[in-house]
Order: sequence, then C-alpha cells, then structure tokens
Amino acid sequence: MQAVRHHPPGGTEKLRIAWEDIPEIDDDEVLVKVHAASVIWMELYWDIYRKEDGTYKTPILGEDYSGVIAKVGSKVPNDSGLQVGTEVMAFMSKAFPTKRSIDGGMAGYAKAQFSHMVPKPRSLSLIDSASVPLSALTAWQGLFDHWNLSAGQTLLVTGAAGPTSIWAVQLGKMVGARVIGTASSEESFKLLKSFGVDEVLNYKEVKLDSVLENVDVVFDTVGGDTSRQALKTLSKDGKLIYLVGQPPDDIAKDPRVDFFIVDMNAEQLAKIADSIDEGKLKPVIDSVFDFNDVVKAFEKGETGHSHGKILLKAPNV
Ligand SMILES: NC(=O)c1ccc[n+]([C@@H]2O[C@H](COP(=O)([O-])OP(=O)(O)OC[C@H]3O[C@@H](n4cnc5c(N)ncnc54)[C@H](OP(=O)(O)O)[C@@H]3O)[C@@H](O)[C@H]2O)c1
Repeated sequence: MQAVRHHPPGGTEKLRIAWEDIPEIDDDEVLVKVHAASVIWMELYWDIYRKEDGTYKTPILGEDYSGVIAKVGSKVPNDSGLQVGTEVMAFMSKAFPTKRSIDGGMAGYAKAQFSHMVPKPRSLSLIDSASVPLSALTAWQGLFDHWNLSAGQTLLVTGAAGPTSIWAVQLGKMVGARVIGTASSEESFKLLKSFGVDEVLNYKEVKLDSVLENVDVVFDTVGGDTSRQALKTLSKDGKLIYLVGQPPDDIAKDPRVDFFIVDMNAEQLAKIADSIDEGKLKPVIDSVFDFNDVVKAFEKGETGHSHGKILLKAPNV
C-alpha cells in the first residue's frame, strides 16, 4: 500500500509517500481500507513524535479517517457492530501514548483497536465521514464534559468557521444557546449565518471585550491575545475552554481557563453520528485533495483560514 510518512522535524518538505506492507492486526484490532483521512496541519509540528534521545518517530499521518472494514480481529466483540464490510469512521487519538502503532489514516489501509471506530453516519458519504471524529468530539467534550452547555447560555466561539469551531457553533445552536462567533472573511460570515449564529464579530475590527460581557463559556481555538480579550468578556463563574495547546502562564493562572486534549469516545461519536443522521449536525468540508496532492492539502491548512475540514483521499479512491 501507499502511505504518507512524515520525517520530523520540519514541515511539508518532510512529507514522503512510501510503498509498504499492509499492517498486521492484533486480536482486538480492526483493519480498515481507507477512503479518506482528515488533515490536521498542526500534526507536522507535534512534540509527541520526538524521542528521548532527540531523534524522531516517522509516523503515517492522520488521526481520524473513514473507510470499509477489511479484517476483524478474533477478540473484537460481536456486539460492536464492526464486521468485514462495515463502513466506519475512526479516531486513534495519538496524544495518549499506548504500546500500539502511532501510524494513522493517510494510507491505503489503517488499523486501530476496535473501540476507536464506529459505523459512519448513514446519511454521509464515506469521504465526508472522515471529517467528523476529531473535530466533532473536541467540540462535544469541550462543551458537554468540560462545561454543561444548555439553553439560554451565551457561548462565544473564536475562529468560529474553522474545522473544530464550526462543530461548537452547531452544538451551541442545537442545545438552544446564544452563539457568538468571530471570523474575518465574507466566506466565514456567510457560513456562520447559514448555521443561525446569533452574532458574528469581525476580529480584525473589534476587540471582544469592548462589545461583549457576561459570556458563560468561550470555546477558544485561536489563543494569544484573543484569549486575553475573551477572558475579559466572561462572567465570574464562566469558563474559557482553551484548545490551542498548553496556555501561556498569564492565561493559565486564571482559574476559569480549562485546557484539555480530545480523546476517542465511541459512545459520544455514535451520538454525533445519530445527530448527523437526524439532520441536527452537519460536517463542513473546506476541500478534498487527491492522495498525491498531500503537500497542497497541508499547505491549505497552514494558511489558517480554512472553512471546515480539509480531507485527503486515500490512494486510488
Ligand atoms: N486540544 C485539542 O484536543 C484540540 C483539538 C482540535 C484542535 N485543536 C487546536 O485548535 C486550533 C484550531 O485548529 P483548527 O484546525 O480547528 O482551526 P484552524 O484551521 O487553525 O483555523 C481556521 C479558522 O480560524 C480563523 N482564524 C484565523 N485567525 C484568527 C483570529 N486571529 N481570530 C479568530 N479567528 C481566526 C479563520 O477564520 P477567517 O478565515 O474568517 O479569518 C479560520 O476559519 C489548533 O491550535 C489546533 O491544534 C486542539
């Protein structure tokens, strides 16, 4: 099979398409013939691939992907709903170390422990299903595990048209919260209005703390000065869910700041799939690239102005 391997340190110049063997699975694992993987452009710069001796692992990129099950290990439970031929979406959450392979979905085939995948939403294409797991779970866990978002609360989403934030916007509207989003481009404004966002603020023109107050919760995918402004808009019991990485000291010292890293949760991902099938949530795809255009796909992400998710098709899809 073909696979996209990254050879850190470095950016897109260190991406290589290699020919290699299809992975062998353990008893509790599932092999998926991949259709598409989502592009996480920040993955090129993650610390997790640095080894103690200063050298780097060279992973197959991609944490979440979609495809068709090609092989099921003997200890995968029958009631998991996973059989040869099942169309699935998977998320391997590489940030949480295990002894398993850190190779991801940008390849002809990928394997994962069975609890890291669920049947894809019936109403979505296989390719579009690759856009769901990591981004939708991040928004779900931020708003419902790290906060208890409910009707009538005010939710501020920064970088609201981005691949992760657009799910927070939709979850906010789904539960009846008042949703305020920040963005800068006409395309972003249109997208946010189409999801019924109550107020869109152009972050290039206004300071958040000069126009907002008493916000209950901020879903923050931007960081830096945006977080500092957003903290001033929060109510005293509010929370700023900080996604960008470990916050700098001046932000971290505010007890209302909560940083977390998304993890796979099959039950939550299945609920997200149901909500998509019920028409309550909808993935937003910025663009879909052919496998051989992997460098272009990551370069698109690195612009920092994608509207929804960037996807990479598997080889020969
Ligand atoms: N902790 C976790 O588990 C977790 C999970 C997922 C993502 N993340 C992190 O979340 C961050 C966002 O990643 P992403 O891939 O979702 O989005 P992204 O591609 O980095 O962001 C794209 C969006 O950000 C907007 N934007 C750019 N600069 C902005 C600014 N100064 N203020 C407000 N909006 C701005 C753009 O809107 P316009 O084009 O309209 O300007 C665009 O829609 C990354 O740091 C990523 O590592 C963390």
